[in-house]
Amino acid sequence: MNILETDDYEAMSRQAANILFAQVVLHPESVLGLATGSTPLGIYRRLAELYQQGDVDFSRIRSVNLDEYCGLGPNDPQSYHRFMEENLFRLINIPEENTSLPDGMAVDTDAECARYDRRIQELGGIDLQLLGIGNTGHIGFNEPGCNFEMSTHRVVLAPETRRANARFFQNPDEVPCYAITMGIKNIMSARKILLAVNGKGKAEVLAKALFGPVTPQVPASILQLHPDVTVVADRDALSRLPVGSRAVIE
Ligand code: PGA
Repeated sequence: MNILETDDYEAMSRQAANILFAQVVLHPESVLGLATGSTPLGIYRRLAELYQQGDVDFSRIRSVNLDEYCGLGPNDPQSYHRFMEENLFRLINIPEENTSLPDGMAVDTDAECARYDRRIQELGGIDLQLLGIGNTGHIGFNEPGCNFEMSTHRVVLAPETRRANARFFQNPDEVPCYAITMGIKNIMSARKILLAVNGKGKAEVLAKALFGPVTPQVPASILQLHPDVTVVADRDALSRLPVGSRAVIE
């Protein structure tokens, strides 16, 4: 595991964007696994800038997102479909048909999960998966106690996750209780993983994830067993790591 420390959120965003940028430049037909939330916003802004400067072409890239809330359609302002559209897809030249997210409106969620797994397989798997980490230690919406063997499935969101995500909704009761998420199995099958983390609020859970026991109680801890993980995190997020475990970027 490679841990890159940056000064702040802005530097984390640029560094993580550089890694995605390099992937796209070197392998323009890559399958990117994408994430939502506050963490990747700066990364997507930077990728959009690089595109607008003419430095990168996304026209042959395919993307699969980690998750979507159940009950929210693609046009719902709180849906992850809409998040991706507004914060990345409409700012770059990825064709719409190259992008995939789980369908939160699917009536038969089991069938939808199976479809999503097939989609990932048909694409040949994920070349580079971008992840954030939740306060609970979740990756995607794989919450504490999750089964490491699961592929895409429906989950009940942890109360802490619903509270954390309430900031995006007008009323906390509007935060959906369920989501469809890629499972740990999908995530661990990605050829490379890029974990972006910022802020003191994530310091403790990040230390547990990277240096604590590998346990379903801290879902991100499974990443210790992945052969190609890069963590890009700001100083605050790395403030609880054991001494000597950091590589500093100047
Ligand atoms: P955040 O969420 O980036 O909004 O903190 C991360 C996550 O829940 O994975």
